[in-house]
Amino acid sequence: MSMISAALLERAAQQIRQGGLVAFPTETVYGLGANALDPEAVVKIFQAKGRPSTSPLIVHVDSLEMARSLVSRWPSEAEKLAAKFWPGPLTLVLEKAAVVPPVVTAGLNTVGLRMPAHPISRALIRAAGVPLAAPSANRFAGVSPTTAAHVRSSLGDRVDLILDGGPTDVGIESTVLSLAGGRRILLRPGMISREMLEAEIGAVELPENLWQPCDAHPSPGLHRRHYSPTTPLLLIGDGNLPSAGKGAYVWRLNPVERKDVISVQLPSDPAGYAARLYAVLHELDAAGLDWIAVEKLPDSPEWEAVTDRLKRAAAA
Ligand code: TXA
Ligand code: MG
Repeated sequence: MSMISAALLERAAQQIRQGGLVAFPTETVYGLGANALDPEAVVKIFQAKGRPSTSPLIVHVDSLEMARSLVSRWPSEAEKLAAKFWPGPLTLVLEKAAVVPPVVTAGLNTVGLRMPAHPISRALIRAAGVPLAAPSANRFAGVSPTTAAHVRSSLGDRVDLILDGGPTDVGIESTVLSLAGGRRILLRPGMISREMLEAEIGAVELPENLWQPCDAHPSPGLHRRHYSPTTPLLLIGDGNLPSAGKGAYVWRLNPVERKDVISVQLPSDPAGYAARLYAVLHELDAAGLDWIAVEKLPDSPEWEAVTDRLKRAAAA
């Protein structure tokens, strides 16, 4: 918390209480926050992002008590997972309480809840005294921001205040697990893996139509094209890069000898890779290239979350 002053924090909390929008760091990506209990404030999030109103928002809390106040049922699985993984990059979708306005949940009877680990997000929720509805702080379908500069270049003055906490640690969005209706469905993979969830609560299902785009989808993160740079992105398994155009190769283990191609190496471990990925995509996307090629990742559980984001980015 040493990163922002008490005066700035109070100004941000006041913005939230007055119905404004504040971008803030979480450990995953930057969020675009508003008072989750104020429908007029929440509408501004959708406007600023250019996000369809059919996409539900995650509500960020700073205590279990606050989490429980937002749901009509707090199942034992939620208790176990919260004890193990909160604060942290896990969103739980639960049956909502009446206090949560329909605009937050896109009219669904469920709400996504998460207790972020970043000290600035926790301090902001505490100072504002209300839960924060917050999607990633970027224009709809773009690459999520992992720095305050990314937020500024994507949203500009559509946001009242940006709290700068430096680059985020995790680097990709939270795992989203639905516990609604007595089922356990992994809606979005993240750095808290399916194996880690199953170790706590037993078998977790995968959504049936993972790749099917549909308007009223209960989980917009599952839309095929999401998390995309505007530059075409290709996943390359064999080192064969396009011969034409200006491009970049983002690799982990195997570089390609091509003097005309920008070469970017990412860390070889999943956590290090995830932490850097979006910053690299933001930078290359701004470089006016014809393509961004990315070395295919191993087909193993610890790479599932980043592979998911890359496949979506490549599906444009
Ligand atoms: O790490 C994160 O989750 C970041 C930070 C800011 O917390 N937030 C984020 O929000 O990625 P957003 O809006 O970009 O993605 C929200 C995801 C959606 O893709 C959807 O899958 C899920 O959360 N979600 C939220 N509420 C839901 C609900 N009621 N039912 C099903 N899915 C829901
Ligand atoms: Mg997003």
